[in-house]
Amino acid sequence: MNVLESVTTALDDFLQDIFREIVIELFGGTMFGGLPSVRLADGLYFLAKGFTTACVLTYCALKVPGWVNDRIKVKERLVRGFIAAGIYMEKQRRDLGDGKIKSYRIFPTIERVSVAGSCTTVNLHLPIGMDPSVIESRAWVFQQLFGPTAQLVNDKAGRFRLQIPKELPTKVAYNLEIARAAMKKTEGFALYIGEAYNGSVAVDLKQMPHVGLVGVTGWGKSTALRVILNTWLQVYGPDRLRLFLGDLKMTEFGLYRNVPHVEGNIAVRRSEVVAMLAEVLDVLRYRQERFHDVDATDLDEYEELTGERLPNVVVCIDEVASLEGETAAHDVLEEIGQLGRSFGVFLVLSQQRVDREVMDGKLKNNLNVRIAYRMSDDLNSRMLLGKPDAADLQVKGRCFVKDATHMREVQTPWLAPKEARAQIVEIKKRFAGVKKIPLIPPINPDIPQSVELDQQESNELRELLQALMDQEVQSHASTR
Ligand SMILES: Nc1ncnc2c1ncn2[C@@H]1O[C@H](COP(=O)(O)OP(=O)(O)OP(=O)(O)O)[C@@H](O)[C@H]1O
Ligand SMILES: [Mg+2]
Repeated sequence: MNVLESVTTALDDFLQDIFREIVIELFGGTMFGGLPSVRLADGLYFLAKGFTTACVLTYCALKVPGWVNDRIKVKERLVRGFIAAGIYMEKQRRDLGDGKIKSYRIFPTIERVSVAGSCTTVNLHLPIGMDPSVIESRAWVFQQLFGPTAQLVNDKAGRFRLQIPKELPTKVAYNLEIARAAMKKTEGFALYIGEAYNGSVAVDLKQMPHVGLVGVTGWGKSTALRVILNTWLQVYGPDRLRLFLGDLKMTEFGLYRNVPHVEGNIAVRRSEVVAMLAEVLDVLRYRQERFHDVDATDLDEYEELTGERLPNVVVCIDEVASLEGETAAHDVLEEIGQLGRSFGVFLVLSQQRVDREVMDGKLKNNLNVRIAYRMSDDLNSRMLLGKPDAADLQVKGRCFVKDATHMREVQTPWLAPKEARAQIVEIKKRFAGVKKIPLIPPINPDIPQSVELDQQESNELRELLQALMDQEVQSHASTR
């Protein structure tokens, strides 16, 4: 401590000397009719030192976790939560200014916020006359605000304790309202992933397109896809979302058969997935042409220019590694990865390892949202996240979500297949009569269509025509 003190004193003296010399150099030995410059320099130096110290302290108070800023944030969020959930008493009083009767709100008092490394605790005191069931019955708002770990404890006599441990629970129940709230906060085309310790996690695919889910068998990829798809189907109608589904394990996507948002059948064989991807490529090409015609750069601009709202198209394939060797399919996936964002065409792909064909290389670079469940080894985790952390995950449904700005630990909510099926029954009922606009308008036979053929196709066509002409000539010859 003595060493530190003498070093700071020496530095202080040194800076003060420099400051004096500068002032004397600028103004000479005296100024203002005889005031010694040295005195003025010392005074100014003292002021500058005080100002700098105040700035450093303020900066630390705002930046050091838990000191000032985190508490302010917690208080601010709580008040927003009280308003949103109606946790207050409404009273009336006469305004002293205009004498009119006006209503005002009394909120619970936030007595203390203590931010510790592993848990934040907030002590609340209800205003006299407020029924404790008002806050107890709306405790869900704290989970919406602070994440699934937030818990309200009744300490009796109108006192409550809100505890927010910075550790995720091992299981989180699926809740559509929480998912919907997280998506609402995200502008654009939102994808809900799950719950981090400090709140729900949803990403905007318009900003960060294409999603890759990776993890060893049995740790939650298909469950996550179920959560993503069911949430989407309940939040967006077929006018906003269309799905192309591939299920190469044949066990996961059966429940989505005949859902209005789903295009065609669920592709369960390699050949079917290849054909499905060809269809998606047609949609992409069609949108490219249309956007080019009106000079639009993305879906929103296209809507602004034409008044026509195109739905987002998502290609979702579980166990995409089963497409190994299908180069045509890889090419389409890579092309969607490169061009899809502007045209509202997105990928959501899952597989067990990163180092397997399909997801490695070019396609992986365009998967902006990477979701890693338990990984087989450090190498695979590093390949996806740049860190080995996912190899150590111990909880089913727990993942790391890496996007352009953050890496967060998230618990995927548990949505049992039975519950998912019940939700799908409701979705089918809800959208039963809805008329779906086709992604590509059907061809009108009365309007001549231009046809583009590659070299091989034109050779084949020529041969076919030749064969037909030969037949014709022969038949003519035989009738003669
Ligand atoms: N979010 C979750 N919360 C709780 N348990 C989960 C969660 N996700 C998965 N599980 C448990 O893990 C089991 C396997 O999950 P899932 O089928 O999603 O794994 P997977 O990664 O798709 O496996 P595979 O690669 O073999 O298809 C589930 O049946 C369930 O018991
Ligand atoms: Mg699976």
